[in-house]
Amino acid sequence: MAKSEFTAVVPVAGAGTRLRPHTYTYPKVLLTVGDKPIIGHILDDLQKAGIGRVCLVIGYLGGKIKEYVSANYPGLHVTYVEQPEPRGLGHAIWLTRRSVGGPVLVMLGDTILDADISKFLTSKDDCIAVKEVADPRRFGVVETRGGFISAMAEKPEKPKTNLAIVGIYSFRSSQLLYNSLEKLVASGRTTRGEVQFTDALSLMVRSGHRIKPLPIDGWYDCGKPETLLETNRHILDRKRFAPKAKNTQIIPPVYISPTAKVENSIVGPYVSIGDGARIASSIISDSIVNENAVITDMNLTGSLVGPSATVVGMKDRLNVGENSEIRFDSSACE
Ligand code: G1P
Repeated sequence: MAKSEFTAVVPVAGAGTRLRPHTYTYPKVLLTVGDKPIIGHILDDLQKAGIGRVCLVIGYLGGKIKEYVSANYPGLHVTYVEQPEPRGLGHAIWLTRRSVGGPVLVMLGDTILDADISKFLTSKDDCIAVKEVADPRRFGVVETRGGFISAMAEKPEKPKTNLAIVGIYSFRSSQLLYNSLEKLVASGRTTRGEVQFTDALSLMVRSGHRIKPLPIDGWYDCGKPETLLETNRHILDRKRFAPKAKNTQIIPPVYISPTAKVENSIVGPYVSIGDGARIASSIISDSIVNENAVITDMNLTGSLVGPSATVVGMKDRLNVGENSEIRFDSSACE
């Protein structure tokens, strides 16, 4: 892939409160889905599209993000900008104005997308990724006319269309973008208490600038436990690993780190097991087990097990006679 002249701006400062307790000690983008943290998937996609320069807006537990990125992406030119307080997405992007020039691709750090990024880089117009959703009230929403965006609103109570803003935006001129953000910040205007990126883009559209909506299909949220597991399922389906484990039945798709030790278990479908984890005598499906976690004698499904957590189940010994009925489920209490 030819080197792109675009710089990617990726805001990753959020506290990820809906993913507590995991985000008490890890920033959201370092949570694992499939075989690596969310930020790893995003940086892989950017690199595949030929982007070599990335500006990360960090805040909450930003030091851990720096550590991960410098250890795993030594070939990428990464700059870091701090957002000291959570004042909104528009504010986060505005903070990068002195670190970024030329064409800019903004990619939100909390979603994994199945999109052809090169379409955004080669279009002669500025673009925003959109997707039709059933309930657009919790997103930015666009209206279109003649193939371009004619109006935008951030999380409107009465959306005029079903076209939600997804999380990839491309701008041929960073200057135009930063001028609009500057205007918004200087005006002191906030929506729902935050400096909204959508409001800055709306200013650009209202001044006559043409932005094209680019529809995309694959949009995988990582904002809460259920959606993290759903995204994990999608990545495992897409990548198809060939894991190995001792005396274990693997029901694909499953990812097991080469440094994890899994034995005497039934694993899958849709399980990710991180570096150094140890699983023994357990049945696990639809779960993410992070690095160095220990799971023994458990039957788990739909679970997130944090790094270095220990989960040990019960083992019983029975001596049961003819016609006995032993039940450990709640239906016994009728
Ligand atoms: C942000 C944007 C919103 C967009 C959404 C996509 O909102 O402000 O326009 O639709 O990301 O995930 P947030 O989810 O950060 O509140």
